[in-house]
Amino acid sequence: MSNETNRRDFLGMSFAAVAAVGGAYSLVGMKQAWDPLPSVLSAGFTTIDLAAIDLKPGKPQTFKWRGKPIFVLEKTQAMEPYEGDLVLGDKRYTIAIGLCTHLGCIPAWKVDVWKCACHGGEFDSTGKNTFGPPPKPLITPPFSVEGMVLTLGNEGDQSKAMMAARA
Ligand code: FES
Repeated sequence: MSNETNRRDFLGMSFAAVAAVGGAYSLVGMKQAWDPLPSVLSAGFTTIDLAAIDLKPGKPQTFKWRGKPIFVLEKTQAMEPYEGDLVLGDKRYTIAIGLCTHLGCIPAWKVDVWKCACHGGEFDSTGKNTFGPPPKPLITPPFSVEGMVLTLGNEGDQSKAMMAARA
């Protein structure tokens, strides 16, 4: 084998190695450009640990998910069980987007119903529209459940069942 051949082989292998490394870096760069930013990803999900929020039966709390209010109500024994309830152990919950289905005001909890101050609409403890102009129940956000932790933005079987019951 001549020196000329060895040199040519060496140059060819060097070029191939540089091209492979460059190609790999390009792929990593493209993937980073296509992937959503971490801030965008985390903005899409909100977790609520029902065991840690000190929720009192009959006293809903409001959380925020993607800029929308989310009502979380632990139902009392006196509140009628509903097929769309989220059942965890011996507790039943209502989860709903807290925007009136008439024109989007935020209803307020009064004793045992959500009342909308804008035009007098009412929703019962299941989120069903029971009075006034709202044309349909409160909307169910997509969520999944693991243990006592809800992940809003991640649609699971429980939110599908709640959505179907309110449809
Ligand atoms: S916006 Fe709620 S009743 Fe009209």
